[in-house]
Amino acid sequence: VLKTLKIEFVTLIMNHALHSTKKYLKGVRLMQVIIKENYDEMSKEAAQIIKDAIHLKPNLVLGLATGSTPIGTYKELIRSCKEGDLDFSKVVTFNLDEYVGLPQKHDQSYHYFMHDKLFNHININEANVHVPSGIAKDFAQYCQWYEDEIDKAGGIDLQVLGIGSDGHIGFNEPGTSLASRTSLVTLTEETIEDNKRFFAGDEAAVPRFAITMGVGTIMEAKCCLLVANSEKKADPVSMLVEGPITSQITASALQMHPNAIVIVDESAASKLKRVDYYKWAYENRPTF
Ligand code: F6R
Repeated sequence: VLKTLKIEFVTLIMNHALHSTKKYLKGVRLMQVIIKENYDEMSKEAAQIIKDAIHLKPNLVLGLATGSTPIGTYKELIRSCKEGDLDFSKVVTFNLDEYVGLPQKHDQSYHYFMHDKLFNHININEANVHVPSGIAKDFAQYCQWYEDEIDKAGGIDLQVLGIGSDGHIGFNEPGTSLASRTSLVTLTEETIEDNKRFFAGDEAAVPRFAITMGVGTIMEAKCCLLVANSEKKADPVSMLVEGPITSQITASALQMHPNAIVIVDESAASKLKRVDYYKWAYENRPTF
């Protein structure tokens, strides 16, 4: 009797697992690579996806990135909001990262950047805005709090991402676990070098540490939307899309994401091997 019960129990568990996998796999498709002629077109396409998402769900939980790449996208969103075509009043936002040591009002803090480039120009409710704090007293506790806030909001619906020249997403530098959660991290010399342009070229002024959503946190977003432009991003983009999945290029984790969209300009796409297919697949995307 025990043996029969055991078999029935195992069958039950297996059926359940199979059912969940099927449910999970239902929405799975290829990473969608969209190649646009230039930066403006890339920005418009990304903004359109965000606009559609907000129209569909006015209380969208939107993950945001800083850096130069999404500025054009944010300009488009501001324009639509000013034209009365977009309403941010119920949208909740969570930013990916923040430099450690910079107070909110520092003009290079990501808090400042987001207000300057987006929040000050749209009708968002400040209470719905979350940018990690770079001056928390207890970082471990703060990081857990940030994760809990994301959970309480119902999880991120759409996460905007850029990619670093070392293939990072957020500040998840090469070698970061692909299962990592929000944490305090040390920036690589490459990232410090890349970002010194925002600190009047002074490398010493760039913070050494940051707080960032983990790769695992990002992967839980229902949809990930990565934007990349210029030749400088051609190598990391080719690794992200066509390279092996590796913690050395944390963006490559997106190959395992069931709903990842990568929008690049022609220069950032220049090292992709299957450009023709991506263009063909985009032109012939299913409309049903
Ligand atoms: C910023 C962030 C970073 C940037 C990346 C690219 O919040 O998470 O991963 O997206 O460093 O930066 P830009 O766009 O300046 O090339």
